[in-house]
Amino acid sequence: MNSRSVTAFAPATVANVGCGFDIMGFAVKGIGDKVTITLRDDKDTSIIRMSGCYGNMIPTERNKNTAGVAIDAYLKATGRTDLMLDIFLEKNLPLGSGLGSSASSAAAAIFALNNLLGNPLTTTELIPFAMEGERIACGSAHADNVAPSLLGGFVLIRSYQPLDIIRVKCPDELCCTIIHPHIQLKTSDARRILKRDIPINDAIRQSANAAAFMTGMINEDFDLMGRSICDLLAEPKRTQLIPGFEKTRQTALDNGAIGCGISGSGPSVFALCKGELISGLVAEAMKKTFYEAGLNSDTFVSRLNAPGASILQTN
Ligand code: HSE
Repeated sequence: MNSRSVTAFAPATVANVGCGFDIMGFAVKGIGDKVTITLRDDKDTSIIRMSGCYGNMIPTERNKNTAGVAIDAYLKATGRTDLMLDIFLEKNLPLGSGLGSSASSAAAAIFALNNLLGNPLTTTELIPFAMEGERIACGSAHADNVAPSLLGGFVLIRSYQPLDIIRVKCPDELCCTIIHPHIQLKTSDARRILKRDIPINDAIRQSANAAAFMTGMINEDFDLMGRSICDLLAEPKRTQLIPGFEKTRQTALDNGAIGCGISGSGPSVFALCKGELISGLVAEAMKKTFYEAGLNSDTFVSRLNAPGASILQTN
């Protein structure tokens, strides 16, 4: 038997960032999924082997799993469907959490495979394949989780057709508190309830806030960033799905966060803060508020310029 293998890690992500529904996202430091791909000449498998806290909660069939779908999209596009691969997914991120769980698996898988094959594609070129994983997970091939998971840092998607991805440097002091209350929300459900038509006044306010938020990032104007975190597209409908959300948001702001909103399609909530100290205090206060609403939670604190996908091991 001849076998070579590569293990990659891809981080969790916060998508939407309050004013950038489907067009903004950033990587979170330290939490994410791992995928090991082994090139074999003796065995093909349509089953993905799993481990990790959440490995028993997702489909193992390659064509139903975001990692498998991303890999197969890559193999098809590059004419390498003859390759026999063993895929092992360490599923560390909770499902339906708003932490970009499905994207993390797809990004780690595609990053590992590309490395195994000698990196014929750039990391940016991998994004469309990881987006196919999102399509199978929630019916929509959005890129605001997979792009920052692959590239790291803060990412803006200016256009989907053609894909135009812009990486944006964040102020060094900018931190994020993320709180994951222990309920599950399927992205497909959280998308189904959204309005199909947006009143023009809401569209005007949304685009003004998105532009102002990016200007705040570039000018390191934390006040401007904070007052621009306001979502008129998704959040008004999704708030009802997260018990205690409004109170938790107010708690974050009262404890020094510059802005707060739903992370991706929820139920996680993010709060942007100036510095790690404030982020930590905000995390404690938000956790208490969710607890009072009847929900246990996990908290994470991350700088915004966090790394993207990386190779952990090659054999
Ligand atoms: N932009 C997507 C949504 C992110 O809000 O539906 C899902 O993780």
